[in-house]
Amino acid sequence: MKKFLIIANWKLNGNLKFINKNINLMTKKIDNSLSFCNLSIAPPYVYINYINNFLKNTSISLTAQNVDIHLQGSFTGETSIKMLKDIGIKYVITGHSERRLFHNESNNLVSQKFILIKNNGLIPILCLGETEEQKKYNQTEKIFIQQINNIIKNSNINILNKTIIAYEPVWAIGSGKNANFSEIQKIILFIKKYISSLNKQVAKNIYFLYGGSVNYSNINTFFKKNIINGFLIGKASLEIENFIALVKKTEKIISLLNRS
Ligand code: 13P
Repeated sequence: MKKFLIIANWKLNGNLKFINKNINLMTKKIDNSLSFCNLSIAPPYVYINYINNFLKNTSISLTAQNVDIHLQGSFTGETSIKMLKDIGIKYVITGHSERRLFHNESNNLVSQKFILIKNNGLIPILCLGETEEQKKYNQTEKIFIQQINNIIKNSNINILNKTIIAYEPVWAIGSGKNANFSEIQKIILFIKKYISSLNKQVAKNIYFLYGGSVNYSNINTFFKKNIINGFLIGKASLEIENFIALVKKTEKIISLLNRS
């Protein structure tokens, strides 16, 4: 059974006080109560190994928000995949729209990162999302295929096996306006169909997440037909009591779906 994956992307937020409180509450209130969900946290880099020490004997994993393409050397300010592997990080995000926008990350760079993450035994999370403008001009599918093809071209189709693709419409991130289920379903099925046309088994082994204004009140709307395998959550993961409630509600919904 595929577990539902919930990733808290803290982006550039938090401090030691926030982290101590959040980790303490998560380990006490969620860790032992999850059977149908996996929880992962993507904190700012400076805190990642500090948190890692607290999560050692728990079921909660860590996700890196970014990685450099170099393994070591004179690259001031960067973090390598070897370092992430060294401390036991499980997932690494690549292609997040905030990195594409604010750090000029191209499809090519995102591909290089994706391949590097996968080839080093960590699980890449490829974020794909269209802007309002791209949506208006029906470019979503075209730009997603370009990114996927770029990865395959620099490696091969098997590089996508057992990885994660997160659909995160740019217009939905932090806006309070989530994509509705049928929009998400259309995109996920489109990507699945495309990858399936290249390799059926690889397509089956991909996890699909949705991110973009997911919160406690709207999660009920996302669970139909097993299309979405998890959430990537920004803002709603910063309010710890609400986030714990969101995770517990998700666990309950998934457990009921598994029984029916
Ligand atoms: P919000 O949940 O704040 O919309 O952010 C989504 C996101 O970017 C997760 O990576």
